[in-house]
Amino acid sequence: MYQFKMIFGCLLLPVAVWSQGLLNNTENRNTTSLNGNWNYIVDPYETGYYNFHAEVYDQKNPKATAAFYNNYHAKNKTELVEYDFDRSPQLKVPGDWNTQKENLFYYEGTIWFKKSFDYDLQSGKRLFVYFGAVNYKAEVYLNGTKLGIHEGGFTAFNFDITAVVKPKDNYLVVKVDNKRLKEAVPTANTDWWNYGGITRDVLLIEEPQVFIQDYAIQLKKGTSNIFSGFVVLNNNSGSEKITLTIRELQVEKEITAGTDGKAVFEFEVDNNIKYWSPDFPKLYKVLISTGYQSLKADIGFRTIETRGPDILLNGKSVFLRGISLHEEIAGRRANTLADAVRLLTWAKELGCNYVRLAHYPHNEYMLQTADKLGLLVWEEIPVYWTIDFNNPATFANAEDQLTAVINRDKNRACVIIWSVANETPLSESRNTFLINLVNQARALDNTRLISAALLTRSENGVGIIDDKMGAYFDIIAFNEYRGWYGGDLVSAPAAKWTTPYNKPVVVSEFGGDAKQGLHGKKEERWTEEYQEYLYQQNLLMIQQMPNIRGVSPWILTDFRSPRRMLPGVQDGFNRKGLISDKGIKKKAFNTLQAFYKKIALQYN
Ligand code: GCU
Repeated sequence: MYQFKMIFGCLLLPVAVWSQGLLNNTENRNTTSLNGNWNYIVDPYETGYYNFHAEVYDQKNPKATAAFYNNYHAKNKTELVEYDFDRSPQLKVPGDWNTQKENLFYYEGTIWFKKSFDYDLQSGKRLFVYFGAVNYKAEVYLNGTKLGIHEGGFTAFNFDITAVVKPKDNYLVVKVDNKRLKEAVPTANTDWWNYGGITRDVLLIEEPQVFIQDYAIQLKKGTSNIFSGFVVLNNNSGSEKITLTIRELQVEKEITAGTDGKAVFEFEVDNNIKYWSPDFPKLYKVLISTGYQSLKADIGFRTIETRGPDILLNGKSVFLRGISLHEEIAGRRANTLADAVRLLTWAKELGCNYVRLAHYPHNEYMLQTADKLGLLVWEEIPVYWTIDFNNPATFANAEDQLTAVINRDKNRACVIIWSVANETPLSESRNTFLINLVNQARALDNTRLISAALLTRSENGVGIIDDKMGAYFDIIAFNEYRGWYGGDLVSAPAAKWTTPYNKPVVVSEFGGDAKQGLHGKKEERWTEEYQEYLYQQNLLMIQQMPNIRGVSPWILTDFRSPRRMLPGVQDGFNRKGLISDKGIKKKAFNTLQAFYKKIALQYN
């Protein structure tokens, strides 16, 4: 749904509001899972959505039996009905359809999902249906009533179904369309698989009439003992008392929500706060209570800032020993806690204190696990390559995804960087687009660092990082592929780099493909020895870079990409992983691990 606001100083622009009203901290709410087998109907012609004159059923004739969201069944042997969910095959939710059914591997288009459930909602209670993510566009119906639409394959959304749910035989129908579009976010061209489906958890969330919708509690920017934040109550009419409790810190604060439901707070804590860090990922038990409910949360407290070329975590200079990763494991979308623990444990094994979650918001299990294991996090929205920068609806979509990820993860100590883009081509409209995203991020969260993965240029063999956008970012991050897409490896250690920015520099990507188990000379591409040598030479080069304060090589594991076709080597996989899609480590894994061991001692 769109609303309008003034921006770019002139045009009235549509503002996507899918992120509004998001219930956060679902892991500690009263939930019922709708995960499991869902019936599905593949509908490339969208026959269940449009009549033969391309008119949308739910607008033209909502009760139409031919509209799939009505989940209609023939009442007798005469009646004409040309679909039946209950006699249709099933797919697992959460999950991508591409790796569950061979005939859906390359499928891009509409698939309808249906889940039946009973729910005895007690009077005075409210009920929401929550989707962790659906790729790409979801149109959601319950018992034939349209709940709404959500666009964006990597952000959560929910709908209030209190007025629609029945005690028995509810049918939740979701039209999922993962068609790639130029004006979408991401746009039509990416280097990752366009996994379609209901890719993350689906939950029913029961709440009291007046409930804790959202909250933020963190150390106030620039302080190490002032707690500040807010609590938002949904459906609050008068002044409601809220209690904030952190037993371990002897904090028991009473705050009051106004008629807008919001209670803002700021208070000093003079007890000895144990700050969250990768070596000591301390999480405090925080309790938010009203007269109707208590919501608990595990929250860490840390400070993050930059000072000149330094990144200061809890006031101490830190080097980001990182790795980039996609939300993928064993050649499928990762979507469980176990998947998150597997991926991030590999990162810890590498000696990482930091991960770049590329190129879109990953599922919440990844953030929960990074908070617990102690990994600093770069989160990004899929403003990737040739986004339609002149299109206001594209901007609204990108802004909404940024708002959604900040809303969801603002209480995560592990998250230190919001990234608004990756490898976007230089232009004035691109700059305006990104500057407005930076402003949105700073308006929503002034405590974290803002960046993007930039491209560089070179003059007389010197690498130059002077993208204009650097002036708007806290961290100058860029991708370089010396020895893979260009430049030789032998002279790499002596290569010169320069930047006009007195800010921390992070190499957000470098790397090269290797087929696990393929061995040969270090000059032979695709071999583990080539990748190992490429890492050795790039790490020597990177250490010489000005203001270098971090690196997140591309990439932890091999991942599927429709752009990688070399038979017998790539076979539909980008092979730049340090670990194969079968979970087997390549030689370069040890190269990076040894480098991080050394760096950790230097920054100790
Ligand atoms: C780019 C891009 C990645 C891509 C990688 C590669 O830098 O950001 O998404 O996979 O290069 O070419 O392997």
